[in-house]
Amino acid sequence: MESRITLTVDGDVRTVTVDTRTTLLDALRNHLGATAPKKGCDRGQCGACTVLVDGRRVTSCLSLAVAQDGVEVLTAQGLGDQDELHPMQQAFLDHDGFQCGFCTPGQVCSALGMLEELRSGRPSYVTADLDAEPELAADEIRERMSGNLCRCAAYVNIVAAIQQAAKA
Ligand code: FES
Ligand code: FES
Repeated sequence: MESRITLTVDGDVRTVTVDTRTTLLDALRNHLGATAPKKGCDRGQCGACTVLVDGRRVTSCLSLAVAQDGVEVLTAQGLGDQDELHPMQQAFLDHDGFQCGFCTPGQVCSALGMLEELRSGRPSYVTADLDAEPELAADEIRERMSGNLCRCAAYVNIVAAIQQAAKA
């Protein structure tokens, strides 16, 4: 069974017909040419496919495209370009927050979603004082980014990059 859906992807309104079993990740990569989100595990374990859906981070391999009909999807590709990087992209560059780069589009989107969650006061597993505003401590970043794996193990630099971007 097929279904026709409309998504706004990185600012462009796109309409596409997909099998109803198609994930958002496959719709983006295979039908819409948006290849920034990567297919690492295809089962919600690595975070490489993370995109922002209406501003919230989503592992796109776990979401059916038809369930996202009408939403706004932002991938790392839509954040900035080589001439004008998004502050989060620039921070990853400044701090060597990557080696092979495979996980980076997902890391960048997840970091932006995570900062928004922090700013809205949502606690994490390591938030000690639930009555206080969560702070941007390294352990908060590590916990909130724990769904994004990096096989190159650039974790220390990723934390530093997120701290820089948060100040920007
Ligand atoms: S590809 Fe989606 S979490 Fe790994
Ligand atoms: S930079 Fe290689 S997997 Fe993260």
